[in-house]
Amino acid sequence: MKRLIITIDGPSGAGKTTVSRMLADRLGYKYIDTGALYRGVALEAISAGLNPDDDTGLENILSSLKMKFVCGEKEMRLISNDLDITDKIRTPEISMFASAASARPVVRKFLLELQRELGRDKGVVFEGRDMGTVVFPDADVKFYLDASHKTRSLRRYREFKSETSQTLEEVEKDIKRRDKNDSARELAPLKASEDAVIIDSTHLSAQDVVDRMMNVIEDKKIIVF
Ligand code: DC
Repeated sequence: MKRLIITIDGPSGAGKTTVSRMLADRLGYKYIDTGALYRGVALEAISAGLNPDDDTGLENILSSLKMKFVCGEKEMRLISNDLDITDKIRTPEISMFASAASARPVVRKFLLELQRELGRDKGVVFEGRDMGTVVFPDADVKFYLDASHKTRSLRRYREFKSETSQTLEEVEKDIKRRDKNDSARELAPLKASEDAVIIDSTHLSAQDVVDRMMNVIEDKKIIVF
C-alpha cells in the first residue's frame, strides 16, 4: 500500500493535535507534532537564559542540540539531548517563546532539515504551521484546520486548566498574540497552502473532522483501503 505524507496546518487550538493523532491511528501511520520541536528549542534557549531574538545564542545551542521522537506508551515522547522533555514544554512561557523564536531563520533552517528527515520513510501525519507550504510542498494530502478565536481559546483553556493558573481572558490574549506572530512573520508564516483542504472545526467534533479527512483521502484514490 502506498504510504503518504499528510500535512495538517492551522492556528493554536484548532484541534490539530487530537485530530492528527486520530487520523494517524486510523491509517496506521506515525504522527509528528512539529510544534513540540519549536517548544524543545524554546526550553533549551530559556534554560540558557537567551532572548528569542538572540541569533548567535540560538545558533550556539542548536549546534549541540539533538532532538528525536520515540514511541511512548500512549503518545510520542520528545527526547532532547537524551532527556525526555515531553511534560515540560506545554507552559504559557514556552508557548510565547517558541512563537517568537520560530520567526528566526536560524531556528527554522535547523528544524526544516530535521522535519524532512522525519518524513523520509513516509506514512506520517505532520502537524504544524508550514507543513504544507514549506516543509512538504509536495505532500500527498494537505489540510488546513481552523476554528473561531473563541472556540480555540476555550479549548486551550480547558486543556491546560489543571496545569496553569491562566484565566480564560489570559489564554484569549496569548492566542491572539501568537496568531499575530505566527501569521505576520516573514519566513514561513502560518497560512493555508493553495492546494490544502480547509476545514473549520468550530462546530465539529474531532471524530467529524477525521471522518471528513478520511473522505478526502479516499476521494483522491491515492491509497487502497
Ligand atoms: O503547535 P504549537 O502551539 O505547539 O507550536 C508552538 C509554536 O511553534 C507556534 O506558536 C509557532 C511555532 N511553530 C512553527 O512556527 N511552525 C511549525 N510547523 C510548528 C510550530
